[in-house]
Amino acid sequence: MSATTISVVTLFPELVAAVTRSGVTGRAIDRKLLAVSCTNPRDFATDRHNSVDDRPFGGGPGMVMMAAPLESAIDSASAAHAGKPVVVYMSPQGEQLTHSLVMELARLPDLVLVAGRYEGIDERVVQRKVDREISLGDYVLSGGELAAMVVIDAVARQIPGVLGHEESAVADSFATDGMLDHPHYTRPAVYDGVAVPDVLRSGDHQAIAEWRQGQALQRTRQRRPDLLADRPARHKEDKG
Ligand SMILES: C[S@@+](CC[C@H](N)C(=O)[O-])C[C@H]1O[C@@H](n2cnc3c(N)ncnc32)[C@H](O)[C@@H]1O
Repeated sequence: MSATTISVVTLFPELVAAVTRSGVTGRAIDRKLLAVSCTNPRDFATDRHNSVDDRPFGGGPGMVMMAAPLESAIDSASAAHAGKPVVVYMSPQGEQLTHSLVMELARLPDLVLVAGRYEGIDERVVQRKVDREISLGDYVLSGGELAAMVVIDAVARQIPGVLGHEESAVADSFATDGMLDHPHYTRPAVYDGVAVPDVLRSGDHQAIAEWRQGQALQRTRQRRPDLLADRPARHKEDKG
């Protein structure tokens, strides 16, 4: 099986290195199920100051990432992929990252994630090089690196073989019937006077499965009723 290959175009590759070194993503890289690399637009700057940003036309505060070094970096990162990558600009103006979008991205073998800085990137790069824009949510980060790292982490969890059976993503929130996950408990059975629900210690697998499903449904109904809106009533608890 060939690895999912993700390049990040960033002025701060040292930030992205954090996601490649440890945890689930680090392990995915070690097992060659995921490959992550960085390309720095500064390496493609052409003036003697290695400039990658300039003042905005029309005035106003801040700087804008210049088209030429950024496009060269995107082209260089793209050329290193075996197939034609999908180029994603991490942007607060993009479509919001959701579980279904993560699943869609996880099916792509080649991704280039562009991390903006300052006031953003020259719009002509968006028009010429970007296939889609993805946002983490309705707030503004200082740069796209954290957003790219979130995509890398969420995608890595969905690559077959990355998570062992014990930590399978199938039981996570949004995956099972689009609902939130049920509550989890571990030892001790009584912590500071608060006991684990009896059913979880009963050894009755059917009863445990039903309790978990009921809890997941109750949580989802309370916290995220929107997730249940388009879902047909499949379980007996649904009708209650
Ligand atoms: C300070 S922001 C620029 C925001 C831009 N002026 C705007 O208001 O749309 C710098 C960079 O951070 C990244 N960024 C900021 N917020 C983000 C979000 N919610 N999701 C994804 N990327 C984000 C983008 O790459 C952006 O180019």
